[in-house]
Amino acid sequence: ASTATPAFAQEKPNYDEAKVGVYQLPDPLLNSHQKKVRTAADWEGSRRKEVLQLFKQHVFGQFPGQAKDIHFVTQRIDSSAVEGLAIAKQVRIYLTAGKKGPFIDLLLYVPAHTSERVPVFAGWNFNGNHNVSTDEQILISQNYLDLLTLQKKNAAPTRGNQEKNWPVKTLLQHGYGVATAYYGDVEPDHPQGWKTGIRSSLAKSLQLKYSDWCAIGAWAWGLSRMLDYLQTDNNVDAGKVIVLGHSRLGKAALWAAANDTRFAGVISNNSGEGGAAIARRNYGETLQFITTTFPHWFIEKYKSYAADVNKLPVDAHLLLALAAPRPLYVASATDDQWADPHGEFLAAKNAEPVYALYGKKGLGITQMPAPDTSIGNTIRYHIRTGVHDILLFDWMQYIRFADELVR
Ligand code: GCU
Repeated sequence: ASTATPAFAQEKPNYDEAKVGVYQLPDPLLNSHQKKVRTAADWEGSRRKEVLQLFKQHVFGQFPGQAKDIHFVTQRIDSSAVEGLAIAKQVRIYLTAGKKGPFIDLLLYVPAHTSERVPVFAGWNFNGNHNVSTDEQILISQNYLDLLTLQKKNAAPTRGNQEKNWPVKTLLQHGYGVATAYYGDVEPDHPQGWKTGIRSSLAKSLQLKYSDWCAIGAWAWGLSRMLDYLQTDNNVDAGKVIVLGHSRLGKAALWAAANDTRFAGVISNNSGEGGAAIARRNYGETLQFITTTFPHWFIEKYKSYAADVNKLPVDAHLLLALAAPRPLYVASATDDQWADPHGEFLAAKNAEPVYALYGKKGLGITQMPAPDTSIGNTIRYHIRTGVHDILLFDWMQYIRFADELVR
């Protein structure tokens, strides 16, 4: 496995399992009054609320309610997209009344030739909708920003650059729809991004200061707004929308699922530190590193735990537990040691007690599985051979998972 240090890491990360350190995870089933949670009703009635509140206070900040004047304008419908396999819809989700405020441009593919409402995978893309496919009908994402130069650039030449991350045809052939939008539509991903994102433009209507939440919070909230649209779409089975994301967008997907129980399931693809990986483990990326390099991703308070991560009142297993009892998939990659695959596995493992309250089985094993083997039940896990990415192998496991647990 590659233990390459990203060029931007200030210190050499630890990749030695023997030096991970000793830590104790907060008990998911013990509430702040030291009372044991024994039933799903106890969990939902008190402990779950407490855990969600702790994540708001210490990690991600507020998760506002729906935008009250949200409305949807269909921009383009292609009823014979993807070689005739799909209906492609492009819908602008306006987050305020009128047409001047911020919007999310949603790209939705649903299988053609079916009268049934379909389950849908929904998630942000990194580089604009036009990167998802070479299809010329896809509108260029207007907010697309080059994160190195912070310039908006004419993105036409990069059409389809991320096609391998979005196997649309395969998903359609298996009866799934796929919904995606560019994450920069709600907040550009850099420390000053809040100034031109919804943490500014919606501050009044949501009654929140920019520092009351964070970039991951804004991206997570935006995923819920995509679901608001999907609930109105006649081709979509809105009770079967699985939220997913890769890496930083996997962190956002987990936070969205934690807050918005309308999502039928959640998939974390290589989400790592601040997502599915146990923060208390000193392995790969650390809390210190992430809050220094990406200060906008979390609220200020989170950074204060860099000095002693054991003081953090939550950890990744609790973020995962907030998805219970819904199907949860955590995936790692062998060459993505930066994201701490073992830490991701352990978080999934330690979410099991909450799933057990509902009679749901988790991973069912205690040691990491061999690469390229999907394991588990309502909680699943695999570690794919290869680099930090979301690839066809990953999607094939997600399709099987959805076939068995969501469809
Ligand atoms: C960096 C960052 C990770 C993040 C990743 C990504 O590597 O340190 O926390 O998940 O970028 O989003 O690809």
